[in-house]
Amino acid sequence: VLDQGPDPLRYGPAEGVPVLRELIAQRLRLAGMDIAPSQVLILTGSEQGIYMVAQALLRPGDGVVVEAPTYPGALRTFRSLGAQLHPVPLDKEGMRLDVLEGVLAYQRPKLIYTVPTFQNPTGITMSLDRRRGLLELAWRYRVPILEDDPYSDLRYEGQHIPLIQALDRRNYVIYLSTFSKWLFPGLRVGWMVAPRGVASRLVGIKRSLDLCTSPLSQFIVFELIRRGVDHLDRILRIYRARRDALLSALDRHCRGFMEWGRPQGGFFVWCTLREGIQMEALQEEALRAGVAFISGKPFFLEGFDGERHLRLNFPRLPEGRIEEGIQRLALALRQAASRPEPKVEKAGELGTPPVV
Ligand SMILES: Cc1ncc(COP(=O)(O)O)c(C=O)c1O
Repeated sequence: VLDQGPDPLRYGPAEGVPVLRELIAQRLRLAGMDIAPSQVLILTGSEQGIYMVAQALLRPGDGVVVEAPTYPGALRTFRSLGAQLHPVPLDKEGMRLDVLEGVLAYQRPKLIYTVPTFQNPTGITMSLDRRRGLLELAWRYRVPILEDDPYSDLRYEGQHIPLIQALDRRNYVIYLSTFSKWLFPGLRVGWMVAPRGVASRLVGIKRSLDLCTSPLSQFIVFELIRRGVDHLDRILRIYRARRDALLSALDRHCRGFMEWGRPQGGFFVWCTLREGIQMEALQEEALRAGVAFISGKPFFLEGFDGERHLRLNFPRLPEGRIEEGIQRLALALRQAASRPEPKVEKAGELGTPPVV
């Protein structure tokens, strides 16, 4: 490794170690992107890229379009920089463009943030038509798109859909991805592909954040990928089996209590509770049954009904444990469903609120 470039224990270039940038550019070219290694900027996790783009493009009060629901880390970052968030709901094909157009026309946001492939938390993938339509709108209203894409390498079935970046002819897309989801999140190595116009500003921000991403981590990633060509194939086999185990366990144990999607890739199955099951009751029963899940709430802005949803994550557990977890969840669902509906408090019944 040491003869591949600079010493991995010294500071490296802010843009990233050249051999890794080249390797990423090669992989992206296979995925249909027409780019040079000089356009790849290595990040300390793709999370850092969200911050850098927000820092480069937004001032306090500027609007950002986000999907509803979306990745909470992005919501946190945009909020921390004082952005105003404009949620746009999803349907089976991704972000709803009819709603988006209204937001673009009347709110004049400065950025569109999307996780178009195997979205976190819904697992939804934006269709090709939607991707084209989204670009048309972005071009028309002159709003850049941040395509956050940690999961597209993890496809278990179906055809590859072109990345939005690869469809863009006008340099409107900034693309983010990461090695966190099929190598090691602890190495903290992600990357960005930015149009030339903003790349140097982004490198400046990167330098002021952490000088460079750990060169040691970058060399480890480079070597792991260079030596283990079939690692991703292995991961895909394992994760696909776990997804299938989760979907079949849901089918056998949870029908009638909730509905769920069938993601073609990624990490997540998104479930919607049937009417009459209260999230609070379900959480109590799940605790009793010894099973954990994430409620939909953190993925939405305030005012949205995230409490009707659950996000289930399948890559981390072997099939047997998934089956056991879903049996426990089914027990919790049954118990929660049999509880009486909470009484709606009438005005006045609450008394005077305590002063804190
Ligand atoms: C949509 C999305 N973006 C970004 C990240 C952050 O990943 P990283 O480990 O590369 O910072 C995640 C992690 O869960 C994610 O789901």
